[in-house]
Amino acid sequence: MPTALPPSSTHFEIRPLPAALRKETNIGAEMLLRGDQLFIDPDLITDDDRELLRTALYEHSVLVVRKQKGIEPSVLPRLARVWDDHAKSTHSGGAQMVKDKDNILSKNGGDRIPRAPQVSVLGSGHFKDYEGLPEVRLRHLNQREFHADPLTEDQVQSGQTRFYRWHLDAPLYERLPGRVTLIHGVKVPTGQTQRIELESGENLHVAPGASAFVSGAKAFSLLSSAEQEFALNTTIQYAPRAYEWIRDCKATSDGLTIARVGDERALDDLPEWSWDKVQSHPMVWKNPGSPDKPLLEILGCCVYALRTKDPQTGQVTEISDLARVREIVHGMQKKVLRRPEYIYAHAWEEGDLVVFHNKGVWHSITGNLDGVERILWQCTMESGVEPEPALEGSKV
Ligand SMILES: [Fe+2]
Repeated sequence: MPTALPPSSTHFEIRPLPAALRKETNIGAEMLLRGDQLFIDPDLITDDDRELLRTALYEHSVLVVRKQKGIEPSVLPRLARVWDDHAKSTHSGGAQMVKDKDNILSKNGGDRIPRAPQVSVLGSGHFKDYEGLPEVRLRHLNQREFHADPLTEDQVQSGQTRFYRWHLDAPLYERLPGRVTLIHGVKVPTGQTQRIELESGENLHVAPGASAFVSGAKAFSLLSSAEQEFALNTTIQYAPRAYEWIRDCKATSDGLTIARVGDERALDDLPEWSWDKVQSHPMVWKNPGSPDKPLLEILGCCVYALRTKDPQTGQVTEISDLARVREIVHGMQKKVLRRPEYIYAHAWEEGDLVVFHNKGVWHSITGNLDGVERILWQCTMESGVEPEPALEGSKV
């Protein structure tokens, strides 16, 4: 029987990760540089290469280029354009890093690289004179403060960890999410494998600080047909200034949603906002690679209301009871977290450049990195276009 050769071009070869890592995730491939290229070079990328790389991203969702330590940071935003014709010139988090210590997105102490302001520096540890920054104090999330029902000290000491916030990189206010996110592991943690206990009781074993991914297509495929129909016809209204709104809230142990209603900030207590800038997105997005495999894309912690269109009558029903809204989306999202086989956890090697389909997966950091040093560069560019619904005309 003929075997399909992996796609290849003059400059790149795509090699799916070993089956033991991919499991049933449909995620993960290595992007090998051909010839004498040491670093991926956007200037060398031809139209054929671009086609190959786009196809690979849609097929494998997470692409890994090894041994890129020393790459110029300005290459990352240029690479984003390889996969996204609509990438603007700014990071989707804004032209500058938010520095408010109480903002949940800036608690990590991250900063931007002055010579490449679209690239954030994230991680863990205290670094001086790094990349033109006099001082950075990077902070990894901590399971003692993130979840409503945190792990005990004994559990942490025994190597247990959790997912934090499952999300896509999306500000949900003013700026639209980019097609891809690029993360470069400059300094990566080493140490014992850690363990995440899933709701089923099964364990997912992860390298320290592994980045976890699930496929939105896989998540959609696990829904019942009634749930799929509901999801295809539903639009999610996100909260105004969503990350400010939940800043005092704690997450469920699986990191998919907020554990209880009542801790959200009052809407009139939020930084200045207006409804025309607050985003709503379809619950299911069109898959540019495989239209028959639509993408369930939900930022569970940030949902505010749901609007569902009856496909027969066209009548729109709004669900605004927050507890009910969260219950519905949590019920749908948690199916893909039931089994370790559905979750890809990237074990970082120094120099890795990971490109992931931000509009096709959900991701979460993991790990307990107390006292451990790590430096990541992250780049995700604001897009000029809204995510497309999988079902035309369904957005309301
Ligand atoms: Fe992220």
